[in-house]
Amino acid sequence: MLKEYNELIFEISQPGHVSYDLPENDVPTYDLTKDLPEYLNRQEVAKLPEVSELQLVRHYTALSNKNFGIESGPYPLGSCTMKYNPKVNETIAALDGFSQIHPQQEPETAQGALELLYNLQEYLAEITGMDHISLQPAAGAHGELAAILMFKAFHEVNGEGVQRKNIIVPDSAHGTNPATATVAGYETIEIPSTKEGIIDIEALKQVVNEKTAGIMLTNPNTAGLYERDIQQIVDIVHQVGGLAYYDGANSNAIMGMSNPGTMGFDAVHLNLHKTFTGPHGGGGPGSGPIGVKANLEAFLPVPRIEKVDEHYVINSDYPQSIGRIKGNFGNFGVNVRAYSYIRTMGADGLTQVSKDAVLNSNYLKARIKEYYDVPFAQHCMHEFVVSCKRQKVEHNVNAKDIGKRLLDYGIHSPTTYFPLIVEECLMIEPTETESIRELDQIADAFISISKEIMEDPEMVKQAPHLTSVRRLDETTAARKPVLTYQASLQ
Ligand SMILES: Cc1ncc(COP(=O)(O)O)c(C=O)c1O
Repeated sequence: MLKEYNELIFEISQPGHVSYDLPENDVPTYDLTKDLPEYLNRQEVAKLPEVSELQLVRHYTALSNKNFGIESGPYPLGSCTMKYNPKVNETIAALDGFSQIHPQQEPETAQGALELLYNLQEYLAEITGMDHISLQPAAGAHGELAAILMFKAFHEVNGEGVQRKNIIVPDSAHGTNPATATVAGYETIEIPSTKEGIIDIEALKQVVNEKTAGIMLTNPNTAGLYERDIQQIVDIVHQVGGLAYYDGANSNAIMGMSNPGTMGFDAVHLNLHKTFTGPHGGGGPGSGPIGVKANLEAFLPVPRIEKVDEHYVINSDYPQSIGRIKGNFGNFGVNVRAYSYIRTMGADGLTQVSKDAVLNSNYLKARIKEYYDVPFAQHCMHEFVVSCKRQKVEHNVNAKDIGKRLLDYGIHSPTTYFPLIVEECLMIEPTETESIRELDQIADAFISISKEIMEDPEMVKQAPHLTSVRRLDETTAARKPVLTYQASLQ
């Protein structure tokens, strides 16, 4: 590869090179330094790279080739549901009526977009078994926060705002759950899991009391296990006046087969960028709608989209609402993609998605369990965990080394060191969009690496060998991030 394709675009830049060919100017020219008001006048001209179109295309093609995404190979990153994002969703979201719309447009001129959002709310209410949906939250953790703020508002209205200080979070929950409780001003009470990896009911009974504001339950939990005693868990919390929150980011495992509404939960969030194929992995944007039962409706974020006769209107007249938590109606483009996905799959299709996601995960687990320790013997849901403790103790090769070596096989690493309840953990989520051929390739890679560990552990510890960058210094990257071109020159 020519050197320049390893350079930054600013380093390729040469004065006078352009990637555009504009027609002759046929409108009056203004001298911006004279015609603009002083406060809008920049003293310095923006330093933009000057490159030809071909240089530009090669530069970004080279960059994209260095990246790893779901379109490069299997991406079994547990907890993240890195499923394929169908192209039809992109085509729909790019339609002018969706992509060129302005969020402040008069509702009369945006009826189609409002209808889409309204219908999406209805679909998600059906899927979750909830009474009302808000599409405002920008991602999963944001949805959690919105819902827990609603719990708070509920207790305040009932005169128990001061008394109810605690949110119960199992140790198998997603990390954003305790973080959310803390940000919302609650104290987190952690309860342990049993040896089977599910909630310890006796431990739960011991911590619930009149101070309990609610529980946050991730189901299936981060070990990929379905909580066995859900009904009892919800009842225990409700009996002391607390509310029950369902982290539905793992809904890929249960669509069409069970739902948090029927289980008795008061609120839920979904990750549209996981379960409903919103592209993710580069930091966003996401969409984390929340669903609530009728007891929490008054507290939903405003503005809300409502249907009056055949007309869609925006209503902010809810005095007990927690208010606006995101500009406009959330990340519209992600919501359009989710709508397109639901419509293309249909109810039966979504149910099949979950069945296949669970089947794929159990298949992969069955194929590799002889080679890696599986801490929880029962069937898993859409993901499962293995422990690499044996490899570490016997050969000094850890979970991270194995994840890095998988890259040499063209497979992204699973999530490492999470959940925290499993030592040297790899959390593996193949998703339903991998076929049996790819599942076998993933299994073969795991098995092959387990043999390499015995024959040449040092080689595995040095992996990856075939990627454009080798091991990155993650500690320095986290402690001394260099985030701009200018900073890299210093
Ligand atoms: C179970 C669970 N809960 C919450 C979240 C947080 O979602 P987000 O990253 O969109 O904030 C995730 C993210 O993957 C998750 O897996």
